[in-house]
Amino acid sequence: MDIQNEKYNDTVNKLLAQELLKKIREASLGGPIKQRERHISRGKLLARERIDRLIDPNTPFLELSTLAANGQYNDEFPSAGIVTGVGLIHGREVMIVANDATVKGGTYIHETIKKHLRAQEIAQKNHLPCVYMVDSGGIFLPEQANVFSDKDDFGRIFFNQARMSAEGLPQIAIVMGSCTAGGAYVPAMSDETIIVRNQGTIFLAGPPLVKAATGEIVTEEELGGAEVHTTLSGVADHLAENDNHALEICRNIFKHIPRTPKQELHCEEAIAPKFPTEELYQLIPEANKPWPDVRMIIERIIDEDSFQSFKENYGTSLVTGFARLYGYEVGVLANNGILFSESALKGTHFIELCNARGIPMVFLQNITGFMVGKEYEQKGITKDGAKMVNALANSTVPFFTVIIGGSYGAGNYAMAGRAYDPRFLFMWPNARISVMGAKQAAQVLCTLKRDQARAKGVAVLEEELKKIEENIVEKYEKEGSPYYSTSRLWDDGIIDPAQTRDVLGMALETSLNAPFEKTKYGIFRM
Ligand code: COA
Repeated sequence: MDIQNEKYNDTVNKLLAQELLKKIREASLGGPIKQRERHISRGKLLARERIDRLIDPNTPFLELSTLAANGQYNDEFPSAGIVTGVGLIHGREVMIVANDATVKGGTYIHETIKKHLRAQEIAQKNHLPCVYMVDSGGIFLPEQANVFSDKDDFGRIFFNQARMSAEGLPQIAIVMGSCTAGGAYVPAMSDETIIVRNQGTIFLAGPPLVKAATGEIVTEEELGGAEVHTTLSGVADHLAENDNHALEICRNIFKHIPRTPKQELHCEEAIAPKFPTEELYQLIPEANKPWPDVRMIIERIIDEDSFQSFKENYGTSLVTGFARLYGYEVGVLANNGILFSESALKGTHFIELCNARGIPMVFLQNITGFMVGKEYEQKGITKDGAKMVNALANSTVPFFTVIIGGSYGAGNYAMAGRAYDPRFLFMWPNARISVMGAKQAAQVLCTLKRDQARAKGVAVLEEELKKIEENIVEKYEKEGSPYYSTSRLWDDGIIDPAQTRDVLGMALETSLNAPFEKTKYGIFRM
């Protein structure tokens, strides 16, 4: 790499990281200042303060999808009104789901539900207990058509709670505010529920609806306050005097929940990477510029000198090898160009090795797709790509994906895109994701228009084609952005490249809560 480029990249990528941090900070404030002040004046802690005080002091919180709903709904739903992530309680990884009541009363839009369900999915796959900090008015009523009726809508939250409880994954609710209508089922479906005096309420219908339905006039406290639910109804189990007390009770509950041993995984002493992770900023090129050898990226994430290359000189557009991350053994698969048949076969072989040996996998995804053209089709590139997809889809060891550059076409599938169930999937701020590149999509559509016109025997209007091309390029540029993706929960968050090692380390540690299962494959087309 030449020094000029390194300097330029460093500046550009640090700016991208700063922009990300700024957006995360803004979203992390929660709702408008007026709502926050009102919330605090009621003696309540803000959602992220609650989490801070629940988890072990001075331990990190792996927050997920902070920028969900960003750029949508006039930006009135920062973080989609809910905070989710993995934190430690008495040294044990727990999934925490906290409503942010300063964002439209903690109500649920489509992205809120998607985020809540994704948190539960992560908990279920990685065998994590769940803590729900409830402070929500339930469904955001104007959006009911997008949140209520379908399978993965509001009702799925309670279904998941029942299933996880049956699987022995503790479900704990802390009712710290409103818990209305469907939302009342979060504490009601939990194994143990804490409720805060004069603050938490649980009811199927609030006083106004009760009056409208039956004419009964009743106060919130009489209908479903903390005193009622801990002494009369039994809907809640523990009465807390305030937020801090509730969090203390929750931590105590965890002292009495038996722990299951984690999956064993070979681990040596963790050693820092050979080169500082901050050097990643110098390596990430501008869009459409050539990338350095991906081994240079790998070296800045894994433990020093731990990379053992596999098939170094075969199928070189995919780099595969064993390495250590925070001392743990992992298999790394990283793109170093377009996927060819040989790289797909090598990837398949490596995925099989990782599963056979019980080694988790890290995918560093930067892929424009599989090689196209007569020569490659005739040699059967589709069936070779399918082998890699097959091996991945049936993998039982945990795997993690970081989209470090482009994510296009079937390359997204073979390299553990969202549809392939990586335990966690993160993107870098420079990343791009779409079915194909903007220019390619525009060219495909223009070629189709030309062919149509030729078949009809009419002249092609070049101006019309130019307009189509411009529109498509603009649309793809917008929709391919990592911010567009993360707003819609296509990933678990955008991360600063310099945090990649730490984030992967936490994700890996979290995944060891679930024992590795035996792998079974279907038919590999030969
Ligand atoms: N749907 C749509 N908007 C809602 C809402 C809902 N279910 N619940 C609250 N909001 C909105 C309010 O209109 C207000 O919006 P604004 O800031 O644009 O004015 C904002 O959320 C805050 O609500 P507010 O009532 O001022 O806050 P609060 O802290 O005093 O009370 C609730 C919060 C949730 C207790 C209260 O709003 C409430 O009872 N909501 C209705 C709950 C309900 O019946 N849900 C049934 C749906 S399943």
